[in-house]
Amino acid sequence: MENIDQLAALGLFDAQVPRYTSYPTAPVFSTDVGPSFQVKALSVLDPNAPVSVYLHIPFCERLCWFCACRTQGTRTLNPVERYVETVKAELSLLWDAIPAGLRMGRMHWGGGTPTILPPHMIHDLATAIKRIIPPAEAFEFSVEIDPTMVDEAKISALADQGMNRASIGIQDFSPMVQAAIGREQPYDVTKDCVGLLRRAGITSLNTDLVYGLPNQTEDAITSTIEKVLSMEPDRVALFGYAHVPHMAKRQKLIDETVLPGDVDRYRLATRAALFFQSAGYDKIGIDHFAKPEDSLSRAAATGSLRRNFQGYTTDTCPTLIGLGASSISRFAEGYVQNAAATAAYTQRAEAGMLAGYRGHILTKKDILVARAIEMLMCDFRIDQLALSERFGAPAAMLEPIHTHVLQTFPSVTFRTSDGLAIRPDGRALTRLIAQHYDQYVTEPARYSKAS
Ligand SMILES: C[S@@+](CC[C@H](N)C(=O)[O-])C[C@H]1O[C@@H](n2cnc3c(N)ncnc32)[C@H](O)[C@@H]1O
Ligand code: SF4
Repeated sequence: MENIDQLAALGLFDAQVPRYTSYPTAPVFSTDVGPSFQVKALSVLDPNAPVSVYLHIPFCERLCWFCACRTQGTRTLNPVERYVETVKAELSLLWDAIPAGLRMGRMHWGGGTPTILPPHMIHDLATAIKRIIPPAEAFEFSVEIDPTMVDEAKISALADQGMNRASIGIQDFSPMVQAAIGREQPYDVTKDCVGLLRRAGITSLNTDLVYGLPNQTEDAITSTIEKVLSMEPDRVALFGYAHVPHMAKRQKLIDETVLPGDVDRYRLATRAALFFQSAGYDKIGIDHFAKPEDSLSRAAATGSLRRNFQGYTTDTCPTLIGLGASSISRFAEGYVQNAAATAAYTQRAEAGMLAGYRGHILTKKDILVARAIEMLMCDFRIDQLALSERFGAPAAMLEPIHTHVLQTFPSVTFRTSDGLAIRPDGRALTRLIAQHYDQYVTEPARYSKAS
C-alpha cells in the first residue's frame, strides 16, 4: 500500500486535532482560575531561576485573509500607543507580585505584528519590561517580524535592546497564492529585510512558510523554497494551513474552491520536506527544519527539544510570564491566560487587576501526560523508563494507552525497549496519536486538520 493510502486508512485526512503547544490545550482552560492564582504563582517563583517572558502585540496594519492569529487591524498608532501604556500598567502590577531579584533568560515578542511599534515605543516597552524583570547574563530576545512592516530604524532599535533572534513571515512567494490569501509580499522586500537583520547582528533567523494555501501548487512551493534557501535561514517553520473560518472570521474571504485537497496538501508538505532535507536541513518535530549547527537541531539530537506556545524551542525554563492581551503564562502549578480582547485586557489592567481570567491548575497526572505528549511531538517516541524514573508508579497509567495506540496504528508504531515509537513514515499521524493520550478530548471541530 502506498504510504498516502496507509495514512488515509489510519484517519489522517478525517482528523481535526490540537497542535499540542500545551497540555492541556487552551480550550480546556476554565474561568475558575484567574488573577488570584496568578498572584500566588508569581509570588512563589524562585528568584534564582530565570524566567521566560512573552509579549503579545495584537495589531497589524494589514489583515491577511489566511491569518488565524489573534490580532486587529489599525491604520493609526493611537490604539498601539494606548496599548503600550496598558502593558506598562500590567508591568507595575507584576512588580508587586514577583519576588525581588527575578531575572529573565528569554524574551519573545509576537503578534500580530510587533514591528508596527515605532522605535520610541520599542525602547519604551523594552525598557519598562527590563526595569521589572532585568535580563539574566545569558539573554535571548526574539521578535516576529513582518518584512513589509519594518525598516532600518526599527531593526536597530530592537537590536539595541538586545534582539538576537528574529522570525519573519513569508508563507509563499507566488503572486497567485499571495493574491488568494490577501497578503502581498515581494521577494526583494523580504530579502532586504533579511539583509538588515543580518547586518544588525541577528545570529538566528527563522522563516515561516505555510503549505495547503489556496492556489498553491508543487511548483509554487518549490520556487518559494528556492527563494527562501537563498536567504540562508537558520530555521524554517512549515505550518499546515489551518482553515478555521468559524474561529478566524477573516478567512471567509478565502475562496475555498481553490484550496488544495487532502492528497494535494499532503504532497505539498512532503515535497517541501524533501527539498529542505536535500538542501542539508534537519527535520525537527512535525513542522520545523533547522541547519545541523543550529541549537534546535542539536536539541533534537540530544533529546532536549521542547514544545511551547511558540512551537519548537530549546527553552527548558519552567516559567513563562505572558504579557499583553490573550497571552498565556505557564507556571509549575498551571496556566493562566490574560483577557483575550484588547478592551477587556485594558479594563482589567486599568482597574488595578492582573489580567489573567482563565486557566488550568495542573494535576500530577496532567504533568505526566503533558511530558508524554511532548516526547511524542518532539522525539516521535515515549520513553516510558524516563517517565517512570521521574513520576514513579503513576507513570504506569500510560501502559493501557500504549497498548491501544499500538493496536490502532499497528503499521506505523512499535514497542521499544523503553516504551513506544512512531515509524518515520507514520509521523504525519503524530498529533492524532498524541490525542489518544489526551485526557480532555473536546469537540473536534475546534481544531485544524491533522494533515
Ligand atoms: C503572528 S504571525 C506572523 C508575524 C508577522 N505579523 C507577519 O505577518 O510576518 C505568525 C505566523 O503564524 C502563521 N499562521 C498564521 N495564520 C495561520 C494559519 N491559518 N494556518 C497556519 N499558519 C498560520 C504564519 O506562518 C505566520 O507567519
Ligand atoms: S500574517 Fe502577520 S500581518 Fe498578516 S494578519 Fe497575521 S499577524 Fe497580521
